[in-house]
Amino acid sequence: MLRTADLWNPPKKDIGEDKMVSGKMLGALNEQINAELYSSYLYLSMSAYFEDAHLGGFASWMRVQAREELGHVMRLYDYVVERGKRVELSAIERPPSNWSSPLAGFEGAYKHERKITARINSLVDMAIKDNDHATNNMLQWFVAEQVEEEASASEIVERLKLVGDDGRGLLMLDRHLAEREPEEE
Ligand SMILES: [Fe+2]
Ligand SMILES: [Fe+2]
Repeated sequence: MLRTADLWNPPKKDIGEDKMVSGKMLGALNEQINAELYSSYLYLSMSAYFEDAHLGGFASWMRVQAREELGHVMRLYDYVVERGKRVELSAIERPPSNWSSPLAGFEGAYKHERKITARINSLVDMAIKDNDHATNNMLQWFVAEQVEEEASASEIVERLKLVGDDGRGLLMLDRHLAEREPEEE
């Protein structure tokens, strides 16, 4: 008969060396924390650029985006802590502060998101190679998120291309982007 005490104190099996998160994976997760912080920094810089260009809706969209990236940071941070590992923060690269047009800004954002997707994919590859199912499972959230991130950036790129040099179109898009609300964490 299984006693409650057995449930709480399962017999210790020889689990050998800690195979949960490899040292290499830990390093890569810490690097991803840095990459997500850089994403936040980049979008905050874009937000400042749009504020300066009197495009408050674009600025607000980017501000929401910058904040969302911090959510990604904390998701990874919490996971590393949960696995009993050490988060190590490193210097965040300086983002650009100027773009030649709103289109160039959003093209930059789209390009950046594709780079992040490639990084997430190689993290998943590493987790699979390590038989690290827990990390793989955690990363799947990011796989799905990147599909959304790429789609939303590319949608705005396409709209900006349609708008072209039409100032009224740009202001209409600005009003539309102002509607973006922060997501519930
Ligand atoms: Fe992200
Ligand atoms: Fe992102």
